Amino acid sequence: MVVCHCNAVSDHEIRAAVAAGACDAEGLAASCNAGTRCGGCRPVVDAILSETTVTIATAA
Ligand code: FES
Repeated sequence: MVVCHCNAVSDHEIRAAVAAGACDAEGLAASCNAGTRCGGCRPVVDAILSETTVTIATAA
């Protein structure tokens, strides 16, 4: 599913960026460009980031 329509970034790409080490909005912006234009996707990007970060933290 495309989350960031401005940059055509999918939820899979965002999760992959988090798994590769992006741990905040700035890290995601640098690695996959999500949320770097209009900002309309930021709430969803933040939700995926939180969900994925919690999953990684609880799996460790
Ligand atoms: S939809 Fe992501 S920056 Fe516009």
